[in-house]
Amino acid sequence: MVIFDGDKRVFKLDTDNTSYVMGITEEGYLGNIYYGKKVDSTDLVYAMRTGEHPFTPSKVPGEKISFMDKFPMEYPFAGTGDFRSSCINIRDNAGQEGLELKYKSHNIYAEKRKIDGMPSARGDGSMSLDIVLSDEALGAEVTLVYTVYEECDIITRSVKVQNTSGKEFYITKALSACLNLETDVSDILSLHGSWARERHIQRSKIEYGSYVTESLRGEPGHQDHPFIAVLSGNCSENCGDVYAMNLIYSGNFIARVQKDQFDKVRMSIGIHPEHFTWKLESGQCFEMPEVIMQYSCKSTNGMTNNFHDFFRKYILPSKWVEAERPVLINNWEATYFDFNDDKLVQIAEEASKLGIDMLVMDDGWFGHRNADNSSLGDWYVNEEKLKGGLKKLVDRVNALGMKFGIWFEPEMISPDSDLYRSHPEWALALDGREPGLCRTQYVLDFSRHEVVDYIYGRLHDILESANIEYVKWDMNRPIAEAASLSLPADRQGEVMHRHVLALYELQERLVNDFPDLLLENCSGGGARFDAGMLYYSPQIWCSDNADPVERLMIQEGTHLIYPLSTTGTHVADSPNHVNGRITPFDTRADVALTGTFGYELDVTRIAEEERNLIPAQIEKYKKYRNLIQTGDYYRIASFRENGRYDSYMVVSKDKNKAVLVYVQVVTDSNVLNKKIKLCGLASDKKYIVDDMEYLGSTLMNVGYIMKPLRGDFQSVVVEINCAG
Ligand code: GLA
Repeated sequence: MVIFDGDKRVFKLDTDNTSYVMGITEEGYLGNIYYGKKVDSTDLVYAMRTGEHPFTPSKVPGEKISFMDKFPMEYPFAGTGDFRSSCINIRDNAGQEGLELKYKSHNIYAEKRKIDGMPSARGDGSMSLDIVLSDEALGAEVTLVYTVYEECDIITRSVKVQNTSGKEFYITKALSACLNLETDVSDILSLHGSWARERHIQRSKIEYGSYVTESLRGEPGHQDHPFIAVLSGNCSENCGDVYAMNLIYSGNFIARVQKDQFDKVRMSIGIHPEHFTWKLESGQCFEMPEVIMQYSCKSTNGMTNNFHDFFRKYILPSKWVEAERPVLINNWEATYFDFNDDKLVQIAEEASKLGIDMLVMDDGWFGHRNADNSSLGDWYVNEEKLKGGLKKLVDRVNALGMKFGIWFEPEMISPDSDLYRSHPEWALALDGREPGLCRTQYVLDFSRHEVVDYIYGRLHDILESANIEYVKWDMNRPIAEAASLSLPADRQGEVMHRHVLALYELQERLVNDFPDLLLENCSGGGARFDAGMLYYSPQIWCSDNADPVERLMIQEGTHLIYPLSTTGTHVADSPNHVNGRITPFDTRADVALTGTFGYELDVTRIAEEERNLIPAQIEKYKKYRNLIQTGDYYRIASFRENGRYDSYMVVSKDKNKAVLVYVQVVTDSNVLNKKIKLCGLASDKKYIVDDMEYLGSTLMNVGYIMKPLRGDFQSVVVEINCAG
C-alpha cells in the first residue's frame, strides 16, 4: 500500500510487515524518515529533524550547508553541501558540477512501467509511486520510482533523469538508491571470492568511514557482488534486523555503507561512477537499474525467503519457475576441446541409458577452435569435428531420446578469427594502443549496432539449423580498455553501460524469438550470476568448481539471495579438476541436489560402480525437484563458520514436506547425539522422520538426532513428511 498524507507531506509505503516512510520539508527536500517494522501512523515528521530544533534552511538560513550535511536525504545529490556519499552528480555544458533536488510532484498508480532496455521486476498489479524532484536552475528532473511488493516485504526502486535544460548535460554519477539508517545496525554482509570460489559470505563490522564492494570489470565478477546488507549485531540466522539491497544489473557497480560523524549509517548501490559518464541531450531521459530493497526482522533466513519468493514471482522468466528442468550432461570436463561427433554420441548413448535428459555440447565446436586461443566470433560449425554438420549430430542425440544444448560466447572475438581479420575495429581498444588479451581474446564493441546485429544473426542461424533446446551463454574475460572508435569524445564514458544494454537487448531478442529455449548464463563459472541475467535465464552456471566442499560455501552465498532453482549444480570428476580433492560420488550428488542437477564428466569412462549410482541419484533429484524449486530454504549450519559440517533444508509452502541435507566435511570421533535443530516446520504438526513421529516444535527446538557418519566428506539427505 502507498499512502500520501498531504497535511504532513509524508509518504508511507507499507508491505505486510514493514513500513518505509519519507517526508518533504517546507523547502521541498525529500527526507528518508523510517524503515523497519510496520507502523500505523504518518505522524513521523519529528523523526526527520536534524537536531533538537527544526534546523531547516528557511529557519536558519545562515547554516544551510550544515543542514545539507546532516539531513537524511532520500536521494542525495552532489556538490551542494551534503558531504557524505551521494547518488547523483551532473556536469552542465559549462563544465560545472553539482545539483539541488526539490520535490515537484508525485503519482501513485497500479501499472508499473518496464524500465527501457533493462530488466526490471514485473509489477503484476503492485502499487507504484513516482516522486518527481527537480533542479530548476540546472534544468533537470529526477523521478524516483518505488514499487511495493507487499507479500514479499520488498520495495523496488529505480531512478529516471530527464534533461529539461534546453542544452546537453553529462550525468557523472547515477546510483539507484540510498537508505539513511537510524537504527543500531553494526554489521555488514557482502559476498566475495575469485574464480572457482565465488560468493563466499563475509560479515564485517561497520566502522567510521566507508565500506565499499564494487566491480570495474564490466560484469559483477567473481570477486564482488551487487548486493549489500547491514545487520544488527545480535543477528543470528533467524532473529535480528537486516536491511538489504540487490541491484538488477550485470555491469560495473558500487555498493557502499558509510558511517558518519553523527553515527548515522548511509547505504547506497548503483552503477559504478568510474568509467561512467552519460551525455544527455535536452529532452532525453536516462534510466538507472532497479534495486530490490528489503527490511526483515527475521534476519538472514527471513531475508532469504523474501528474496527467493520475489525472484520466483517477479524476476525469473515465469514459464520456467515451476517447469521441470532437464538433467543435463555437459562435455566440458569430460573432453575439453578434444571431441568429435562420435565421442559426443557415445556420451549421449551412455547418458540416455542412465536417465539423463540432455546433452550439452560445450566450447570447441566452431571455427577451428581446438584450444582457447582462436575462433571466437566465427560461429560456423567445424565440420572436421562434427562430420555431416550440426543437424546430423543433434538428430543422432535426439534419436536416443535426449535433448541437445549448445555453448556460445557471443561477446568475444579471438585475434585468430576470420571475424577479427575482416573487422579489427570491432574489438574494444584504446586508440593507438595494442589491446590487452585475456584468455587470448578481445571483447567485441557492443556500442556498435552492426556488431550486435551480426552476432545475433549468427546465433539465430545456428539455433534455426537444428533442434537445439538449450543455450549456455558464456563470457570468459572481464572488460578493460572500454573505448570505441565509433563514438565521439564526449560519449566514451558510455561504453561500459552500452555493453550491458546490448547484452540485455541480445538476450531479449533470443528469448523472444525462441520462446521454448532454456537459456543458462555463465561467465568463467559464476562471474555474472546476478538479478539482471536471471530475468532472461532461469538458471546460471554457479562456478567452474564443482568440488562439493567448495560448493557448500559457494552455494551458501548464492542461495542467500537467489532461489535454489537458479543455480547450475553438477556432479563432476574426482579428483576434482580444479582443486584435486577426492570425494565420494554420492556426496557430490547430494550437494548438487539443491540446484539444477546435472553431470560434468565422461560417463563412458568413470568407474562402473559410480556409473551404477547415477540412476538412483537422478531418481532422488526428480523426487525432490519440485520441492527444491518451489519451497522455502533454511540455512541450519554453515561449514564456513564451524569448520566441520554444513546443513540446510527446504520446506514446502504448506509445511507438509521437507528435505534436510547434511554434509559432514570433517569426521567427528566419539560425538554423541548430534542434534540438528530443524527450521520452517509447523510447530503443531506431526512429522515422520526415519519412521519415527515427532511434533514440529520438537524437531525445531530439541532437534533431530543425526546418525553418526564415518569418514570425511559424507552426506545424508533426510526426508520429512507430515504424518497423515
Ligand atoms: C567457462 C565455463 C566453463 C566452460 C568453459 C569453456 O570457463 O565456465 O563451464 O564452458 O568456459 O571454455
